[in-house]
Amino acid sequence: MHVDLSSLRLEKDTLINLLTSKDQESFNYLYTKVDGLRKEFVGDQVHLRGLIELTNHCRCRCAYCGIASDNTAVTRYRMTKEEVMASAKRAMESGCKTVVLQGGEDPGIKKEWLADMIKQLKKEFGCAVTLSLGERSKDELVAWKKAGADRFLIRFETSDPVLFRRLHPHHSETQLEDRITLLKSLRKMGFEIGSGVMIGLPGQTYESIADDILLFQKLDLDMVGVGPYIPHPETPMGRSYKEQPPIFVQDSVETAYRVIALIRLVCPDLNIPSTTSIETSEEGGYLKGLQRGANVIMPNFTPLQYRKLYEIYPDKTCVNQGEVSKKSLTKWLASIGRTISDSKGFRNKCSNDHRESCRKRAKC
Ligand code: 5AD
Repeated sequence: MHVDLSSLRLEKDTLINLLTSKDQESFNYLYTKVDGLRKEFVGDQVHLRGLIELTNHCRCRCAYCGIASDNTAVTRYRMTKEEVMASAKRAMESGCKTVVLQGGEDPGIKKEWLADMIKQLKKEFGCAVTLSLGERSKDELVAWKKAGADRFLIRFETSDPVLFRRLHPHHSETQLEDRITLLKSLRKMGFEIGSGVMIGLPGQTYESIADDILLFQKLDLDMVGVGPYIPHPETPMGRSYKEQPPIFVQDSVETAYRVIALIRLVCPDLNIPSTTSIETSEEGGYLKGLQRGANVIMPNFTPLQYRKLYEIYPDKTCVNQGEVSKKSLTKWLASIGRTISDSKGFRNKCSNDHRESCRKRAKC
């Protein structure tokens, strides 16, 4: 297995060969090279983004997601401003410089309410604010940007339009193209933009994962998050997991690591989280992800009584864990030679010259 690490361009065939390679030893060697690349481009500091799961109300009926509106077994909640502020305070005390307000696509989150919330967070903590609230109207997005929101995350989940349709069978309004258009308009509005995909979905091919990676590169995203798909028993996709179209991806966790590494290779300067679904699938996965190209962790600061209700997939790692302290995070990261970042962790977009010198220093 030979990969030319000095090139930003990997052909689709090369990506497929790498994703499907049975030569794990060579891939492990590639991981060490990618770790060097990560160090040169984004350094040893790990950005902590404090996750606050604001609401589990959702108007969508995504076939994979445990909080889809069809799941009537879920007790629904929406946090108050006071609860969000208290959670954000704890996130700041633990070393986060960003709060991520994540939630279902909840019409109960009103434009003015969230704009005030964002202003209050910025005023009180001076932190970066990331939103991850599904597809919202232009009017709302403009208001939230104006209020001070810095980033917006919305995964396109897969670049295969047929599979996308299977994931979102009921949304006559949601098409893959709409997601892509939304990402582009978020960028124009001045947000940093993040997206991502799930790995190991029924019917998902390695070829489409190679396309996902190429699309990340084409969209010039600031952040990309990927993690294994975890079937949820109370969802249409989870219920018929075994009867769904063939599962081509044999080891979704290893493939997720490979995708992280390949993203770092083709888009070396962007921010990549080591995701909760990786840790949920494999204990120790957070650290492994950080050693295979990732440079971001999103610790959970949702109040414990709500956390178990935000069950997008079962047995989410953070559900029974208490909150992590700055001291324990520092020690944990030090075990792999990393530190908590002292910056808000915006993407430091590299010039081509800088790219060249980083790659030379990483000896690729
Ligand atoms: N397994 C893994 N990831 C999931 N997500 C939603 N449901 C699941 C699941 N069952 C991911 C989606 C979504 C993000 C917030 O969580 O990619 O965009």
